[in-house]
Amino acid sequence: MLSAYIVDWMSLLIRWLHVITGIAWIGASFYFVWLDNHLKPVAADVAKRRGVHGDLWAVHGGGFYHSEKFLLGPQDRELPAQLHWFKWEAYWTWISGMLLLGLVYWYGATSFLIDSSVAALSPVAGIAISVAVIALGWLIYDAVCRTITHELALGAIIVVFVLFLDWLLFQLFSARAAFIHVGAVLGTIMVANVLFVIIPGQQQMVAAIRAGKPPDPRPGIQGKQRSVHNTYFTLPVLFIMISSHYPMTYGHSYGWLVLAGILCAGVLIRVYFVQRHTGKNRPVLFIAGLLLLAVIAVVIRPASLQERTGVAELDPVTTADIVPVIQQHCTSCHSERTTDVVFLAAPMGVMFDTVDQIEALAPKIYQRTVVSKDMPLANNTSMTEDERALIGAWYAGR
Ligand code: HEC
Repeated sequence: MLSAYIVDWMSLLIRWLHVITGIAWIGASFYFVWLDNHLKPVAADVAKRRGVHGDLWAVHGGGFYHSEKFLLGPQDRELPAQLHWFKWEAYWTWISGMLLLGLVYWYGATSFLIDSSVAALSPVAGIAISVAVIALGWLIYDAVCRTITHELALGAIIVVFVLFLDWLLFQLFSARAAFIHVGAVLGTIMVANVLFVIIPGQQQMVAAIRAGKPPDPRPGIQGKQRSVHNTYFTLPVLFIMISSHYPMTYGHSYGWLVLAGILCAGVLIRVYFVQRHTGKNRPVLFIAGLLLLAVIAVVIRPASLQERTGVAELDPVTTADIVPVIQQHCTSCHSERTTDVVFLAAPMGVMFDTVDQIEALAPKIYQRTVVSKDMPLANNTSMTEDERALIGAWYAGR
């Protein structure tokens, strides 16, 4: 067993790497979608002579940049020897993401992956399901893309597939792990699209051009389709990556529907931006995305005291009343002197040794014990519903 301190450092370094590579990848992806959609067609004779499809001027970092797009490579000269590919950003995002998933949800399976009130899985079974879901997610998506040719039908099938996956994961894992696994499947699909479809297609095209043969258009069309999917997946995946900070989303009793709604909002907002680059300004899409988020926010708002207990006022529960509950269930980890065998230092520096500390963190205590119910961690001290209700009443009376 590694000490929690060492695990924290591993997690810090891997997460840092994951964010850096993810920014590089999604940043490049946003840039190229933007670039492609802003290209201006060039004069017909230039296009014919040099093979330029469109171009664009930009100013950045103390100089001017002139980008030209050649669909089939330059017509008046050879392809340059050095081509930049933009693929390692994607691969490293996936590698670091899988390392992080392994560290947090496989190594920490009993705390973070498995919730025995959802499914009483052993750690090995949970990890096996995690791996299988990620691999199958890609295989099924890829097979569907290769069979269904109608774009809209394909889009609809992918939406249904993601919804099903989302629901299924909520039947297997803790809510938070279910969220992250939807993200892991989508992220894996995005990277596999780059590795198995987009890059090989580009390699074939480059090889044909270098050999002086007319390139086969099919891999290009397939690659374009997968790029479009990747573009729409970006905002949903980015939300999922930060979702573990927001137990109000995954901790809701219909967490899978909350996720489905937020993913749809992300897609709508991304579609709006992509279309806007091409001059089609349809703010209704953007507004629809925001409205959807607003509706979700209203629907998942925490219940008021009246709604939860049916009475408008209770005898006030004081902080002194809940101190014994906190001492019994929380301070093994959240204390200056932890007694937990794994968490040798208070997780996230959160300590409940004094009344002041408890009161200062009241909203978070309420959130994690009453709303998302993911504290105590994995309910390792078997906190009861009555104790949670007591904390709820304490919080409501403040
Ligand atoms: C077995 C150890 C353990 C126990 C027991 C435990 N926690 Fe935690 N707690 C953690 C870990 C690990 C984290 C950090 C990961 C996370 O946020 O889920 C954490 C995070 C938190 C946070 C989030 C702080 C933030 O800034 O977001 C709160 C609040 C919290 N715990 C409250 C509680 C309460 C209240 C109890 C008792 C009812 C409790 N915890 C019992 C391990 C524990």
